[in-house]
Amino acid sequence: MHIRELSVLNYKNFGEATLTFSRKVNCFIGNNGVGKTNLLDAIYYLSFCKSYFNNPDAQNVRHSEDFFALQGKYELNNINEEIHCGFKAGQKKKIRRNKKEYERFSEHIGLLPLVMISPADAVLIQGGSEERRRFMDSVISQYDRTYLDWLVKYNRALQQRNILLKNCAGQSSVDPDLFAIWDEQLLLLGQKIHLKRGQFLEELLPVFQNYYNLIAGGNEVVSLEYGSQLNDREFADLLQESFARDRMMQYTTTGIHKDDLELKLGGYPIKRLGSQGQNKTYLIALKFAQFDFIRSLNNIKPILLLDDIFDKLDSGRVEEIVKLVADDHFGQIFITDTNREHLDGILREAGGEDFRIFVVDNGKINDIIVKNEKE
Ligand SMILES: Nc1ncnc2c1ncn2[C@@H]1O[C@H](COP(=O)(O)OP(=O)(O)OP(=O)(O)O)[C@@H](O)[C@H]1O
Ligand SMILES: [Mg+2]
Repeated sequence: MHIRELSVLNYKNFGEATLTFSRKVNCFIGNNGVGKTNLLDAIYYLSFCKSYFNNPDAQNVRHSEDFFALQGKYELNNINEEIHCGFKAGQKKKIRRNKKEYERFSEHIGLLPLVMISPADAVLIQGGSEERRRFMDSVISQYDRTYLDWLVKYNRALQQRNILLKNCAGQSSVDPDLFAIWDEQLLLLGQKIHLKRGQFLEELLPVFQNYYNLIAGGNEVVSLEYGSQLNDREFADLLQESFARDRMMQYTTTGIHKDDLELKLGGYPIKRLGSQGQNKTYLIALKFAQFDFIRSLNNIKPILLLDDIFDKLDSGRVEEIVKLVADDHFGQIFITDTNREHLDGILREAGGEDFRIFVVDNGKINDIIVKNEKE
């Protein structure tokens, strides 16, 4: 699967542009603030019907315009696919596949698998546990639709239980039967979600460790641990024991909504001790592991977007990453950088194909077709 052509109209700092891509390596180079990340974001948008940065659509419209449109021409299993996304201020956005409009965006998500690695991922390490739960949930729900359904239902039951706790605040006694219906749902769904997250992390761990070792040279020990109150205790007992506390706090204090993914380096939380380069390596290995997961679903290589990936990494690690992504295991890749040095390395490494380098200059793009020097 690959994107052959991208057209942008009024997306962020771009007026009008159409780019034709290589099936393998595409590079956007240019100074800070010229729009390299915005181009990756446009590609991301066509897969997920939203910006990677989760900003409201009005912010994606080029200043002083009132709409944006994105179009991607893809080849998927040897069949051409054309995706169109359009947004106009004050109206609902529209997504079309081969000219036919989707009723629900969820029908589109998953069609064009994609993994983005961005400096914004640092929030996975530095942010609260909700960021890491979101990571687990987003990867699992890409290959297991029922999981997403469980999550939605669990969160709905949780919300209802919390409303009930608030409504009962100040009452000297409450009827436990009032809570039974929500507790029952939390238990049923919470246990399933707990099991699924545990299985997912068990499978993810060796793939992640392998990538980390390949990039870092094998001298550092990394691990991912599933932190959950349900690991050692029955959820039913936890709910029962915490009832008095829940009433006092007016929200549900136990359950899988408190889970965390503990990211460790040398046995300690990476959040406290990881160097900038170690953190970056950690995130890249995690995203590569995610790539493998999504790839194994239907044997389609996701598009890989690598934003500023070389920043903070030493030359040894850069070289290993270059070797990895140039390998046939990965499919079409997009890389941004401010200088050509790293990119030339990639072009030399990933022999035998044609590459494209796009020089981005404040919303304008020139492309240079690079012939492999080995040929
Ligand atoms: N809606 C918008 N309308 C016009 N310009 C916008 C809009 N949204 C963002 N921009 C501009 O896009 C530019 C940032 O683009 P982007 O983040 O893609 O830069 P970059 O080339 O990736 O830079 P860096 O090398 O620093 O990462 C900024 O100059 C910003 O003002
Ligand atoms: Mg950028």
